[in-house]
Amino acid sequence: MKALVYDGPRRVSVKDVPDARVERPTDVLVKITATNICGSDLHMYEGRTDFDTGRIFGHENLGEVIAVGSGVDRVRVGDLVCLPFNVSCGFCRNCEKGLTAFCLSTNPDPRMAGAAYGFAGMGPWEGGQAELLRVPYGDHNCLVLPEEAREKQTDYVMLSDIFPTGWHSTELARVQPGDTVVIYGAGPVGCMAALSATLKSAGKIMVVDRHPDRLALVEQIGAIPVDDSQGSPVDRVLEETGGLGADCGCECVGYQAHDPQGNEHPNLTLNNLVQSVKATGTIGVVGIFVPQDPGSPDTLYKEGEVAFDYGMFWMKGQGMGTGQCNVKAYNRQLCTLIEAGKAEPSWIVSHELTLDQASDGYEHFDARDNGWTKVVLHPDGSR
Ligand SMILES: NC(=O)c1ccc[n+]([C@@H]2O[C@H](COP(=O)([O-])OP(=O)(O)OC[C@H]3O[C@@H](n4cnc5c(N)ncnc54)[C@H](O)[C@@H]3O)[C@@H](O)[C@H]2O)c1
Ligand SMILES: [Zn+2]
Ligand SMILES: [Zn+2]
Repeated sequence: MKALVYDGPRRVSVKDVPDARVERPTDVLVKITATNICGSDLHMYEGRTDFDTGRIFGHENLGEVIAVGSGVDRVRVGDLVCLPFNVSCGFCRNCEKGLTAFCLSTNPDPRMAGAAYGFAGMGPWEGGQAELLRVPYGDHNCLVLPEEAREKQTDYVMLSDIFPTGWHSTELARVQPGDTVVIYGAGPVGCMAALSATLKSAGKIMVVDRHPDRLALVEQIGAIPVDDSQGSPVDRVLEETGGLGADCGCECVGYQAHDPQGNEHPNLTLNNLVQSVKATGTIGVVGIFVPQDPGSPDTLYKEGEVAFDYGMFWMKGQGMGTGQCNVKAYNRQLCTLIEAGKAEPSWIVSHELTLDQASDGYEHFDARDNGWTKVVLHPDGSR
């Protein structure tokens, strides 16, 4: 099969690799028809993780089931399915509680909980930016989609990661109807956080970034764009909230947060959130942070440590929730919202490309080039 393979920092290519196949009775084999490039792929693409060369990218996957193992009961050949980016078992202590991002059996590294397709540090599972994908524990992992999804793949593919992840940031931040919410990052995840806060009837939603195309997307759904290249985002949020700060804050940027001039500061968004969120407010951090980052320009962060303003955080009595999203906790309900016409997450999609065009997609999305807000790949050639 053809697959998009990591060749080293900022290099990917399409290669012929052995076909993915059913290896265990509980596996499902999926022909991928839509698979996205994610901000998480970019950390790996830039060489800022220990992702091995030769591995296949792709954790935001949707496609048609073409084979099932002998132990698969529910999922059938021909079903159109969306796969949570988390690879989880359904039967470990964490999965039983719905914490599928922290599955205890799918990551062979005993120090880690949680696994994902095509992801550094998250197990051996190959990615779906390929013609075929092996899905372990298929009955548990496959979300079988409604018929209309065949024509609306760019909406439904967002259920694999970023729509649930944006929603998760608002859950971690405990967004309630009427709350004021500040979101750092207007990338795909920040946009989905803004959509989720809207769906939860937040009173006022402010989104901080500096890319005009991304800020325009959040403005389209009624959020207030805050351009931090034009002045302090903290001052702007305080102005919008009568000096108190927002009730809730969402971090949708991660460890490669930088100032508008491009200098990286892994603590920048976290400390801005401490200042922009009110005393006793809650912060949800879904932007990725990693235990080691030897390539960081920040000495502390080379060992995963962040100069966090803990004193002010503590004095303000704030709370914080962190981590990967348990996609299965939300994907079915969010699917229902798409089917009911109440959510249309595809509004952020700027490009639909074939696998052969994927390396261009990576280059432009990585540069955050104007107009490259979300890239969907169609390895089956459909567009
Ligand atoms: N927790 C999870 O389950 C999960 C799932 C998906 C993605 N992620 C992570 O979410 C983060 C965002 O991913 P994405 O797909 O939206 O792509 P992205 O990386 O393109 O988006 C990040 C955005 O943040 C902006 N930004 C950078 N520094 C900033 C600052 N100081 N203040 C405000 N904005 C700033 C950038 O301009 C960019 O638009 C990444 O770290 C990704 O790995 C986490
Ligand atoms: Zn993703
Ligand atoms: Zn598990």
